Amino acid sequence: MKVTVSLIKADIGGWVGHSTVHPMLIKHAQKKLKEAQETGLLIDFFVFNVGDDLQLLMTHTKGESNPEIHGLAWNTFVEITEKVSKPYKLYGAGQDLLAEAFSGNVRGMGPGVAEMEFEERKSEPLLVFAADKTAPSAWNLPLFKIFADPFNTAGLVIDPSMHEGFKFEVLDTIEGKAVILNTPEEMYDLLALIGSYERYVIRRVWRKKDNLIAASASVTRLSLIAGKYVGKDDPVLLVRAQHGLPAVGEVLEAFAFPHLVEGWMRGSHFGPLMPVALKNAKCTRFDGPPRVVGLGFQLYNGKLLGPNDLFDDPAFDYTRRNAQAIADYIRRHGPFEPHRLSAEEMEYTTLPGVLEKLKDRFKAAE
Ligand code: F6R
Ligand code: MG
Ligand code: MG
Repeated sequence: MKVTVSLIKADIGGWVGHSTVHPMLIKHAQKKLKEAQETGLLIDFFVFNVGDDLQLLMTHTKGESNPEIHGLAWNTFVEITEKVSKPYKLYGAGQDLLAEAFSGNVRGMGPGVAEMEFEERKSEPLLVFAADKTAPSAWNLPLFKIFADPFNTAGLVIDPSMHEGFKFEVLDTIEGKAVILNTPEEMYDLLALIGSYERYVIRRVWRKKDNLIAASASVTRLSLIAGKYVGKDDPVLLVRAQHGLPAVGEVLEAFAFPHLVEGWMRGSHFGPLMPVALKNAKCTRFDGPPRVVGLGFQLYNGKLLGPNDLFDDPAFDYTRRNAQAIADYIRRHGPFEPHRLSAEEMEYTTLPGVLEKLKDRFKAAE
């Protein structure tokens, strides 16, 4: 059976400020998706949150970019905004619903989407990652490590099914174009692109020998849709694991290093990506630090057996302590780069205003 996994998320109101999602939103979303399951549209679903983002994980047989599935997510976000976020004056009620009306597909309308359709294998371990206070480029480094770095993924060397490598689709978010690069042979070209966080984002990964879809990420850039700062894009990622794909532990291993990502306070600062359990998926210090949850599911005929809250484990305590030390260190830079993003990248920039105010006071330097 071909099953489609759709993870669609949006920030439709924070509690309190931009820190987390009120449980009322989760309950309301569960009710809506339960109704859709009863009509047969969905096989299964799981609703959760990371920081101020409400996450709808859904399984069905309708394929990717399906108007009924995307419409369900959009209508759920709109209804909750009207019935809960606005009456309770939640912070930024409906902030990610940028379009006036639904036009068949939530891509480009504000919410983030990661989807994949595949033939369910004999056993199908599925990993779901969702991050808050960062941008889609946050997945570049871990995806590279998972699918192209033999120091992270032993299977690239040891498992004959993976030995040929993987194919990466990289999106140029400025030009709206995509390129497919093969690893290991084009690894340096790949790195030359994906090291530029502000522009290039990995969207999909396939196993090279048979084009099996292995990973799919959301690549929304809200600021490019709205033309101004409207919040960070807080990305999501789906990864299939095991039996000729990276093992669950090889996928998780990539998150043991709390690498620096853009986002955090006002979407304008670099900070470490901290892996956390669902119960700690709440942004606090300086509206962060940016954090990621990792949920495991065994799919069975499209049903989701899970979640297994994978970062809820002392094995990641050291990474979290490390992330806190890095957060403390980089925070001391205050408004100085490289904590603060470069002026071009700052989405809340006051720089043009400052320059305008000072323009007559700039004199030719001796
Ligand atoms: C970052 C984020 C927050 C806000 C900050 C200021 O993605 O959403 O850090 O940027 O709390 O929010 P406003 O301008 O709404 O007061
Ligand atoms: Mg928010
Ligand atoms: Mg958010």
